[in-house]
Amino acid sequence: MDISTLKEQLRNEAEQINNEIDLKNFASKYRGNNGIISKLFQELKNLKNKEEKKQKGKEINDLKQYFEELYTEKEKFLIEKIKQEELKNIDVTFPAYNIKKGKLHPLTQVMEEIKSIFLRMGFSIAEGPDIETDYYNFEALNFPIDHPARDMHDTFKIDDKNLLRTHTSPIQVRVMEKQKPPLKIIAPGRVFRRDAVDASHSPVFHQVEGFMVDKNIRFSDLKGVLDLFTKEIFGKDLKTRFRPSFFPFTEPSAEVDVQCVNCMGKGCPVCKQTGWLEILGAGMIHPNVFRAVKYDPEKWTGFAFGMGVERIAMLKYGIDDLRLFYENDLRFLDQF
Ligand code: DAH
Repeated sequence: MDISTLKEQLRNEAEQINNEIDLKNFASKYRGNNGIISKLFQELKNLKNKEEKKQKGKEINDLKQYFEELYTEKEKFLIEKIKQEELKNIDVTFPAYNIKKGKLHPLTQVMEEIKSIFLRMGFSIAEGPDIETDYYNFEALNFPIDHPARDMHDTFKIDDKNLLRTHTSPIQVRVMEKQKPPLKIIAPGRVFRRDAVDASHSPVFHQVEGFMVDKNIRFSDLKGVLDLFTKEIFGKDLKTRFRPSFFPFTEPSAEVDVQCVNCMGKGCPVCKQTGWLEILGAGMIHPNVFRAVKYDPEKWTGFAFGMGVERIAMLKYGIDDLRLFYENDLRFLDQF
């Protein structure tokens, strides 16, 4: 059969192709190992005349290319055809499934809210490592070795030097070592205590530390900042109350209460009828902390505070069991 007849045959056969099997047969008939085109190439070897061989070779190549064009065209046509048939079986007007969107964990939400309140007051954010040294977690914060104040922190020790930080206060030291005043910093993070789990304790929880260092910082600055913070975070016009307390790294130190968010201070089971809820610890930065970071305590003054994020979230949302935060029960998480 001469090449032009073969060409015509190709075109006619291609027109008949209507499905995948037809296309496969078409390919093996011409392109396959024993296919017509392959055979033509084999026969070419037997031609002795160089010119004739060259001419014939070109013709077979043309034929091969023609075949490939037809093949690709048909293949495209079949893919489109299958797609159209599939679409016929789909009701495109059928309403989409309701995909449930994830959202931020309530603790993350509260953490973000706390950060945003302080950022608006001009504070910057700093972070520190979960694994701390005894020096940053205790010593530089004026807890000398063997001082009984260390008993307040049930510590997970790693070895003699390293531990899981029991609070975010070490970030104060880390920041002050690296930066010069004036400073206005908040430091959020995860902290660890060797506590058994119950409705109000967890070995892992979250704190936000805050501190400010400059000349002539007064206790009233601390009061102003925290008073504004509590009003913002609870969204209510609540009073704050400062009770004298002790922390090694502040002097004087205070425990800060806010009027009960539940009864607005009248007295209820949430505040055990006192009208007040303890929300954080605070004070004026101790001169020994300034000495540890080589700040002159005669020149610089500052305040610091530290709060538990779980506690704030529980009070804000009226949650009475801390374990709910960690169980990942969607029926709980969905409510925030
Ligand atoms: N670090 C303290 C704790 O975890 C909380 C605290 C109290 C932080 C007073 C402060 C502060 O910065 O001034 O118990």
